[in-house]
Amino acid sequence: MEYKDEDFKVIVADSSHEKYVDIILATITDSAKKRGSGIASRTHEYLATKMRERKAIIALYGEEEEFAGFCYIESWGNKEYVANSGLIVVEKFRKHHLALRIKQTAFTLSRLRWPNAKLFGLTSQTAVMRINTKLGYVPVAFSELTQDDAYWAGCGTPEHPCCVNCDVLARSNRKYCVCTAMLFDPKEHVGEPLPVQLPDDVVKMAQDAAAHNLR
Ligand SMILES: CC(C)(COP(=O)(O)OP(=O)(O)OC[C@H]1O[C@@H](n2cnc3c(N)ncnc32)[C@H](O)[C@@H]1OP(=O)(O)O)[C@@H](O)C(=O)NCCC(=O)NCCS
Repeated sequence: MEYKDEDFKVIVADSSHEKYVDIILATITDSAKKRGSGIASRTHEYLATKMRERKAIIALYGEEEEFAGFCYIESWGNKEYVANSGLIVVEKFRKHHLALRIKQTAFTLSRLRWPNAKLFGLTSQTAVMRINTKLGYVPVAFSELTQDDAYWAGCGTPEHPCCVNCDVLARSNRKYCVCTAMLFDPKEHVGEPLPVQLPDDVVKMAQDAAAHNLR
């Protein structure tokens, strides 16, 4: 079946999307199993809270609003660093630049909400590296990332693994691992336009949160 780009809606999620949390979690788990990789596991409540806090992006297909893709935003180290995590696109909808659109939306929301934060991510996926590069991220050493222990806990430990490679991370004292680290430093992109336009109410919400220095 051919899916048309214009039939996908990519939006900042809210509490009305909580009904999608189960399918999102199942899709993430299923994909991690197929890839034989680990991914930081998240609870139902965690993703539902992200939606309520307007820190999640969801992609829906067609009039039936079928779940198509997702990612969420987390801030670390006292808001100095922001990561867009948990990116997933349903298999049949892949290679339609949907991940690009989801990441562009997450990027725009992150830039409005935390204008001074460095945006970063860890990935082993070509698609994600290509998207990050388009957004202005560059590869960096792990020492350039947040040192917030809570972030690294998402990879797990050899005793309690989340990712299959966490023994490598532990052995290197968090200096390197299988994933590539990528970073967007806002100081190097002053005055550049944002990749997508968000609805006025979302822009206002993000700017209010930034003005009040909210997490
Ligand atoms: C990674 C993933 C999100 C990509 O979704 P997608 O919607 O197919 O990606 P896009 O169509 O936006 O592709 C972005 C770019 O990557 C390329 N690409 C997509 N899939 C690719 C693949 N498997 N191998 C190599 N390149 C790929 C595309 O051609 C595109 O490049 P271009 O802009 O130069 O044309 C999807 O494959 C997925 O959900 N994988 C499982 C979960 C996962 O790995 N998440 C990321 C964790 S860091």
